[in-house]
Amino acid sequence: MKISPKLALVDPELTLTLPKSITASTGMDTLTHAIEAYTCKVALPLSDDLGLYAIELIAKYLPLAVENGHDLKVRKNMLLGSLVAGIALDNTDLGAVHAMAEPLKKIRIYGYF
Ligand SMILES: [Fe+2]
Repeated sequence: MKISPKLALVDPELTLTLPKSITASTGMDTLTHAIEAYTCKVALPLSDDLGLYAIELIAKYLPLAVENGHDLKVRKNMLLGSLVAGIALDNTDLGAVHAMAEPLKKIRIYGYF
């Protein structure tokens, strides 16, 4: 089963009050999306370019977003990195990190946790 949004509303102002811990953990997740898209064995030239661009954005702006979450330019570039990583990942396949998480999601969905 593939679940993907038909529409994404990407508004950096909505992220300005996120706590540092949420900024850091979700930022690392989106960095993982970008790395998995870039290193995936079934990657395409387009997904490679998008993944690499997302890695560059996130590597530059994630530390700044954790340090100063109220900077709108930083938040805008982090969201751009997250969006580009998602587009890249949607055009490839998961890597090892998210593949390992898939069984855990199924267990949670079916109520074992
Ligand atoms: Fe993820």
